[in-house]
Amino acid sequence: MKIAVFDDHQVMSFQAARMIATQIKNKPDSVICLASGETPFLAYHLLSTLLLGEGVDHQQFTLIDLDEWVNIPSQNTGSCSYFLHTTLIGPLKLSLSQFKLFDGIALDLQAECDAMDEFISKRGGIDLMVVGIGMNGHIGFNEPGVSTELYTHVIELDDTTRTVGQKYFAGKTTLGQGITLGLKHLQESNSVLLMASGDRKARIMKATLEGTIDPLVPSTIIRNHSNGLVMLDQKAASLLTPDE
Ligand code: GLP
Repeated sequence: MKIAVFDDHQVMSFQAARMIATQIKNKPDSVICLASGETPFLAYHLLSTLLLGEGVDHQQFTLIDLDEWVNIPSQNTGSCSYFLHTTLIGPLKLSLSQFKLFDGIALDLQAECDAMDEFISKRGGIDLMVVGIGMNGHIGFNEPGVSTELYTHVIELDDTTRTVGQKYFAGKTTLGQGITLGLKHLQESNSVLLMASGDRKARIMKATLEGTIDPLVPSTIIRNHSNGLVMLDQKAASLLTPDE
């Protein structure tokens, strides 16, 4: 795993966009899993600008949703599905066969998990996973203590996630469970990009990069990934021990 620190969120977002665009240029039929959230918002906007502006063939790659809130319909502006539609799927005019998102209101959530795992394995696995990090160290909705051996699963959200998650919704929303790709996907993905920005992520980034590798802090698992990259802005990196 490598670490790259950038001056601010904007510079980091541009580099992230460039990295994702390069993945698509080098392997047009890439399978790319994308997180939602405040952190990657700008990177995705810049990515669509780059792909369209440079005329990169973006008709062959496959976009996969990292996670979704259970019981939240895709039309809800706080859903991950809505986020990916507005940031990338819409602007890039991706065809229906080019993306797979979770249906958070599916009656059979286990079937939803199985369908995602099958979709990924039929395409030969994930080339790049772009993930953020929760205040508790979650990746997607892999909450503290989760098994590192799981593929897609449904999980009870912890209190931090239920509270912090309110920021995505227009009004107070009951958040109970999440559906998410598993840490097994992260370990098997050809490459992983984790982005973190802002002072509020400084403490968890120190634990992620300098604490014990432990499923109690799920993000620490990225340190075992031979092709993992952690991008941070100065604020998120502010508590890291400086290099000797
Ligand atoms: C959310 C999502 C994650 C996201 C993380 C950080 O709850 N489930 O996929 O990466 O928390 O979000 P943000 O970038 O808004 O801080």
